Amino acid sequence: MRVGVLASIIRKEEKLIFQKLEERGVDWEVIDDREVTLDLENGDEFRKYDVILERAVNHSRALYALNIFGMWGIPTVNTFEVAETCGNKILTSAALVKAGIPTPKTVIAFTPASALEAIEKIGYPVVLKPAVGSWGRLLSKVNDRDAAEAILEHKKILGTYHHSIFYIQEYVRKPQRDIRAFVVGDETIAAIYRESPHWITNTARGGKASNCPITPELNDLCVSAAKAVGGGVVAIDVFEDPDRGLLVNEVNYTMEFRNSIAPTGVDIPGKIVDFALRVAREGWEKANGW
Ligand SMILES: Nc1ncnc2c1ncn2[C@@H]1O[C@H](COP(=O)(O)OP(=O)(O)O)[C@@H](O)[C@H]1O
Ligand SMILES: [Mg+2]
Repeated sequence: MRVGVLASIIRKEEKLIFQKLEERGVDWEVIDDREVTLDLENGDEFRKYDVILERAVNHSRALYALNIFGMWGIPTVNTFEVAETCGNKILTSAALVKAGIPTPKTVIAFTPASALEAIEKIGYPVVLKPAVGSWGRLLSKVNDRDAAEAILEHKKILGTYHHSIFYIQEYVRKPQRDIRAFVVGDETIAAIYRESPHWITNTARGGKASNCPITPELNDLCVSAAKAVGGGVVAIDVFEDPDRGLLVNEVNYTMEFRNSIAPTGVDIPGKIVDFALRVAREGWEKANGW
């Protein structure tokens, strides 16, 4: 069994994954996304991998590499389809709505004028997010029309083209926390509360992690959300709405988990590696007509 790990900078997460691969006696190599070249017509040098585990920090590199590995018939965790959907909040929200999963009200607009109209219709406060992004970056909570006009104009004039695709969401009056749940295959393996005095609760922004019990309700919701985007190894943000209960905010496909192992006591990297090995085995069986 040989595993390729697509990565660039090696974070704590990747180190833990390498350790688990070692413990399982698996042959593994890093495929460095800063050095790799992918000759579309010739994937031979990559066919030695039974599975490629994608751990790149850069969404575009991950996306294109997964597409090409998939074209060559190499199993990947996650698949290109999952990366494509989860890497874009518009596609993620659309997939959640399509699957009937409760999610905050979200409206997409393409000009500042239509965005302003949508914002006024939803009612303040609203949240604006870049379609592609993470770690809570460039999120805006817009409390009134003056702020809406200013932010829309700034996005249009100072942002790249991508910032003129407006992702507008109702502000959910969650408690001073949200839930981050980890799904591997068809199981929610761990979940944390992320607590913060700030409305943005990402641990990358100082949110404090503590264990969140996995109720059957949370498990079902998260497994359904994972399925809605194509399944695999994903991390799901869940809001506790005082009236509507649990709402799925987003699904992440190259999840960070360093702050979630200690509070939950769950061997998250071990579960990721075991899932990748299962995908490798299934790929091998399929290729060999089992
Ligand atoms: N609609 C919203 N209502 C209330 N809080 C929100 C909303 N959207 C995002 N947040 C807060 O901001 C955090 C980051 O938003 P998120 O959509 O997950 O983007 P990112 O990809 O940057 O993590 C969430 O975990 C949550 O704490
Ligand atoms: Mg998030």
